[in-house]
Amino acid sequence: MKMKIKIDDRVTDILKSFKLPDEIGFGTTIAPVMITCDFKEGIWETPKLGPYGPLKLQPTAKIFHYGQEIFEGMKAYRVNKKGPYLFRPLENYKRFNSSAERMAMPFIPEDLFMGTIKALVDKVSPFIPNQSGDSLYIRPFMISTENHLGIAPSKEFKFIVVASPSASYFKKEKPIDVFIERFYVRAVEGGTGQAKTGGNYASGLVSAMKAEKLGYSQTLWLDAERREDCEEMSGMNLFVVKNGKLVTPALTGTILEGITRSSLIRIAKDHNIDVEERSLGLKELIQGVKEGQITEAFACGTAVILKSISSFGEEDGTTYKIKSKESEYTYQGEKVRGQIGIFLKEMLLSLQEGRSKDPYGWRVKVPTSVDSYQKVTKGDNQQVHLDC
Ligand code: COI
Repeated sequence: MKMKIKIDDRVTDILKSFKLPDEIGFGTTIAPVMITCDFKEGIWETPKLGPYGPLKLQPTAKIFHYGQEIFEGMKAYRVNKKGPYLFRPLENYKRFNSSAERMAMPFIPEDLFMGTIKALVDKVSPFIPNQSGDSLYIRPFMISTENHLGIAPSKEFKFIVVASPSASYFKKEKPIDVFIERFYVRAVEGGTGQAKTGGNYASGLVSAMKAEKLGYSQTLWLDAERREDCEEMSGMNLFVVKNGKLVTPALTGTILEGITRSSLIRIAKDHNIDVEERSLGLKELIQGVKEGQITEAFACGTAVILKSISSFGEEDGTTYKIKSKESEYTYQGEKVRGQIGIFLKEMLLSLQEGRSKDPYGWRVKVPTSVDSYQKVTKGDNQQVHLDC
């Protein structure tokens, strides 16, 4: 597949003068170049790779009023100077379009999504941190840009990709405490819970504030109808280990279909760890933690990777602390004992970072400019064809 991309003449100099700060944090250091592509009159225009900077939008652009917006979170790795590798980018591409469909936004062709992301990662590749656990966090997103205050799907959109050299999502090493939200809900059946759209995150912020005040770092959302089943956390999926089995809430249409979630399920099954995707009642969770059948819990997602949970807690101050215990599973044909969460994190991360074999074909090498760009014209901007 060949895709045209316009490369702004300033890109080379901008990249030359960019330096990573000593402390990169998560989502605070932003690469100095980005992708933009406009959708007008039913077609995607030629994407541009240019300087990172402010967008020029009218105050009546629909994004500001009706929140027609979607995004993805993905990562590129370059540990020990290998790569860069993307992890299962096609899954992000599919989810992006399924979010677009739910939010009445246009379909984005595969070559545009994959080609622009590969071009950006290639340009930014010298700034991908090479410590294990660090990566280039990539944020493709689409916003509605038509200037009109009527409630109707926008006719114009902008697709943008920015990238952020990032460390772990949580600054602190220690496991997190999770707040059980019994009043507010995140998603309802038939709603947008399954889509990666800003509104799902915005509506959870009131709970995040409550949780933070009480000393928690994430909210656990319950089902909206009965407030009885665990669904997911604000930016991550939930797993527990109960009686040595991995249990995670089944995808019911209200939960985001996490790519890390599905990858962990596959890796666990391939190491003889039983996995149950089913409803996980809040009562079952509390009882399991109190009585010691639940010996581990963790959050997972692209940004967070995998983070242990040490306790769940209520608004009235009651907390249920997990008494962690090791489980038995098979690794390289041998039965071993250990924490399932720690094992799965290492299996996943070593695959993502190119430190282990990839039996699934999940790792996608980003081609370097030498073999992927073919210059075709030169004017104000270079226009190149990109193999993707
Ligand atoms: C991701 O994991 O990529 C997300 O979008 C979640 C957010 C908490 C950063």
